[in-house]
Amino acid sequence: MDFIDLKTQYRRIKPSVDARIARVLEHGAYVMGPEVTELEQELARHCGTTHCISVASGTDALMIALMALDIGPGDEVITAPFTFFASAEVIALVGATPVFVDVDPRTYNLDPAQLEASITPRTRAVMPVSLYGQCADFDAINLIACRNGLPVIEDAAQSFGATYKGRKSGALSLIGATSFFPSKPLGAYGDGGALFTNDEALAKLMREIRLHGQDRRYHHPRLGLTGRLDSMQAAVLLAKLEIFDDEVAARVRLGARYTELLAEAFAGHPSPVRGPYVEPFNTSVYAQYTIEVDHREIFETRMKVLGIPTAVHYPLPLHLQPVFEHLGQGEGCYPVSEAAARRVISLPMHPYLAEADQVKVVNAVREAIG
Ligand SMILES: Cc1ncc(COP(=O)(O)O)c(C=O)c1O
Repeated sequence: MDFIDLKTQYRRIKPSVDARIARVLEHGAYVMGPEVTELEQELARHCGTTHCISVASGTDALMIALMALDIGPGDEVITAPFTFFASAEVIALVGATPVFVDVDPRTYNLDPAQLEASITPRTRAVMPVSLYGQCADFDAINLIACRNGLPVIEDAAQSFGATYKGRKSGALSLIGATSFFPSKPLGAYGDGGALFTNDEALAKLMREIRLHGQDRRYHHPRLGLTGRLDSMQAAVLLAKLEIFDDEVAARVRLGARYTELLAEAFAGHPSPVRGPYVEPFNTSVYAQYTIEVDHREIFETRMKVLGIPTAVHYPLPLHLQPVFEHLGQGEGCYPVSEAAARRVISLPMHPYLAEADQVKVVNAVREAIG
């Protein structure tokens, strides 16, 4: 059993993806080719934003958003400590200071109730992460940010395709940034990412920053990056976008089925396994189907022996990463994130997971719990 099965997906999209890649090879516009423009139009339509800017990775997307907002040394940007490293890495890369706000223990997303207390005169932006495929509470976060005159950037790297109160992830705040890393809900065959906004001026700036900060050929009013998505990856993403809604529906169905199977497996006694909680106003794309268990290491080893691949997202919260030691935020600063980092473990999840395999995984979970 695969943790994520991209081969079955390839068999399904082979005619389309092969033809689209062949077309790129024939026209030869490998960078900023017609596929890139077509993809940006399709992605903007999917999200319901007026602008989409495709970029080289999710990390570049976040970084370009911060650069477009002119965030740098002396500034603070608020994010969650329980996320993939890039969420805070980009803040430090532009020279600003990451300020962490602990997460809600049920959704693992930035807790709006703790946000306002962390805002200082140096705060320049709020960057909540929509972790594991479920959006953070953007109405609450946007309201607090707006009251304090702060822009909000959604780190939607894991939630592309999810909805929040009927609206699409990526379109929930001033800027949305996502990743097309191969294992993401919408993944390329290499690195990729995208930015979303309805703000015309910001869209123009982000396009320029993606291309070395140039506003016209060889004229650079600002610094930028080689942050473009290449035409090959755009071609792959266009083929995958054709079946994306169907895959999202499968993810929603499979996530719900896992939850049912786990409830049945531990019916009758307090469950030693905590499954994911999805807010009633959210749909999750289950970028990860993540549970919490006691004695995770023993559980992990037993699952491996039983032939079930698992992964830990993420074992060390960002305030405890060696590179952020200088921030002086040791153990105990963000207790919810620290507890989650000790207890979480993700089960195999992808749109082509068979019902029989889900049963096998849940039986293994029951056995591994002991
Ligand atoms: C929450 C989060 N933010 C940012 C990123 C960075 O995306 P990428 O790997 O495409 O640079 C990722 C993906 O790995 C992620 O999961």
